[in-house]
Amino acid sequence: MKNIDWDNLGFGYIKTDYNVRCVYKDGKWGELEVSDSEYINLHIAATSIHYGQEAFEGLKAYTCKDGKIRVFRWEENAKRMYYTAEGIRMAPVPVELFKEALFKVIKLNKRFVPPYGTGASLYIRPILFGTGAEIGVKPAKEYTFIIFVMPVGSYSKDGIKPIDNYICRDFDRAAPLGTGSFKVGGNYAASLRAMEQAKKLGYSSLIFLDAKEKKYVDECGHANFFGIKNDTYITPKTSKTILNSITNMSLVTIAESLGLKVERRNIPVEELSTFTEAGACGTAAVITPVKRIIDPETNTVYEYCEDDKPGPWTTKLYNKLVGIQHGDEPDEFGWMTTIE
Ligand code: PLP
Ligand code: COI
Repeated sequence: MKNIDWDNLGFGYIKTDYNVRCVYKDGKWGELEVSDSEYINLHIAATSIHYGQEAFEGLKAYTCKDGKIRVFRWEENAKRMYYTAEGIRMAPVPVELFKEALFKVIKLNKRFVPPYGTGASLYIRPILFGTGAEIGVKPAKEYTFIIFVMPVGSYSKDGIKPIDNYICRDFDRAAPLGTGSFKVGGNYAASLRAMEQAKKLGYSSLIFLDAKEKKYVDECGHANFFGIKNDTYITPKTSKTILNSITNMSLVTIAESLGLKVERRNIPVEELSTFTEAGACGTAAVITPVKRIIDPETNTVYEYCEDDKPGPWTTKLYNKLVGIQHGDEPDEFGWMTTIE
């Protein structure tokens, strides 16, 4: 292995030593297997590549301050993958199997877990997909569950960098009663034109509005949205179009513990003018502060940062969550599981 430059990792694929795999066949899950291959041998009629029977998850493990490796809130990812699997009629992965696979793949790739102090972490990517052959549109009879891992880059040493977003009205990520709350690949394919448009227009990301009325904030790119005003953390309520973010769930708990009020409700576009801070949250970046939101329809610019710096509540929330994940802060909510 080449030496890994832990301080300068990005968020990209890196080959590690092993992945773990399990096949569902004849109505049951088989034995967990260890593989050193980056490839799969897939039937040309597998439902995943024809009809989108595919789900994934994303979670992280850290080398904590005491030198132990811990994983953040893995049960929530296991439960969400189960929910997604049922949502697109795949064989769900039992939570116990998810756990066994997760612990095994982390242990097998221990040398890729970034050291404490680098800010980097081990990104864990579970995938579940239909491998059984069908040409009629129906659920497969066979599924494959794989977990692979890779080291990914730091929460930035220079702090977190606020970005510009625009309000997208040309594309929807998810239909009102569709698959938006499931973590299925199709939602990400559906978002690609919007992301490309955002980049072309010079924005880092975008705000997806609710597809039905185009009145309310749904998500901020591939992350949940929150706004802060009057010592209140406000985030869109759980819906069929929004992915129920585990980071957001955790920020809600931290916000309450720091004395913020929390509201989970619809956020009308007009309300964006009233927030003093705003952010996007997800596993990859934890919090990406929103610097500005531009509404091209009304030519309005909403601003949330002074001197390009995240606001005080955003900074506190971020520091607390990242502190818990890296073991700098006590795990007061019981979110970290040690990999022994
Ligand atoms: N929303 C979408 C569409 C996402 O892809 C993600 C990333 O996983 C999130 C929100 C954030 O979810 P989590 O905090 O569980 O990573
Ligand atoms: C996140 O983890 O925040 C994401 O948005 C996941 C993305 C890489 C699909």
